[in-house]
Amino acid sequence: MSANQTAVQSNDQSPVLVDFEDGIAWVTLNRPTKRNAINPGIVYNMVRVLEELEADDRCKVLVLTGAGDAFSAGMDLREYFRGTDNNPKERIKLYRANAQWQWRQLRFYAKPTIAMVNGWCFGGAFTPLVSCDLAIAAEEAQFGLSEINWGIIPAGVVSRAVASLVREREAMYYVMTGETFDGRRAADIGLVNEAVPRERLRERTRQLAKVLMEKNPTVLRTAKIAHRMAAEMSWEQATDYLMAKVDQSTFHDPERGRDNAMKQFLDEKSFKPGLGAYQR
Ligand code: COA
Repeated sequence: MSANQTAVQSNDQSPVLVDFEDGIAWVTLNRPTKRNAINPGIVYNMVRVLEELEADDRCKVLVLTGAGDAFSAGMDLREYFRGTDNNPKERIKLYRANAQWQWRQLRFYAKPTIAMVNGWCFGGAFTPLVSCDLAIAAEEAQFGLSEINWGIIPAGVVSRAVASLVREREAMYYVMTGETFDGRRAADIGLVNEAVPRERLRERTRQLAKVLMEKNPTVLRTAKIAHRMAAEMSWEQATDYLMAKVDQSTFHDPERGRDNAMKQFLDEKSFKPGLGAYQR
């Protein structure tokens, strides 16, 4: 483990690793021999890791990825499903914790999040993928809603998550056939922002994280959460809500970004908002 690396259990065997690098927290699902299938260890560690990073200044952008040649093979069939078949109390606790990190925390995370899909991505792994704000995949990555192949439906909240991003015809096709598709196809159907060759994946992700770090963090946080909320409101409600959110972020912004940007554009003529962020 490198000097910049921490983990909840602080060793290479931890189910989740965190590496800090110039403002990026690389969060790695770490069960490569099991293709990072999501077991109770990953679930409970992810809840804690996300909580801790939200308050950690070393994390300005969070990247979620997987160790080895998988992003994640989805929920662990042995430990998550069969392991709780006869233990309803543990199942309730585990399923709740899984919902907690996979979408309740991630969808409304205080920091920008990027899913970096490096390889296999199946079933339950779609939920954290969709919940991240942005996603970049290796062209070679393989995705699949494989549930139909082993006798269940895309549950947890996978169907709902997929429906929020992917066009209906494509979503239904993959729900019903369980066919795999690659990173390029994932970009075509709107599941990820873009696909790049695997050797460029980390560099492209780093580049995107740097763009996000140039923005005002208070406004960025408000912008992403407001966008998610407004998407589920009527236009009338959204207008009123968004006006209130503008006031809220302007009021709470320690940088006074709006005033500074106005001055730089209108008075000093030192930047153009259409072409990049103001000087912070
Ligand atoms: N749950 C539990 N164990 C899993 C797993 C999962 N979702 N995905 C992989 N593993 C385990 C395998 O059982 C195997 O364990 P073993 O070494 O003890 O036998 C190990 O991970 C490696 O898997 P293997 O199938 O040999 O790797 P592969 O590279 O040949 O194939 C996959 C990779 C992802 C195509 C294949 O493992 C697979 O189909 N996994 C299930 C994917 C799925 O349907 N997920 C949906 C869950 S909601």
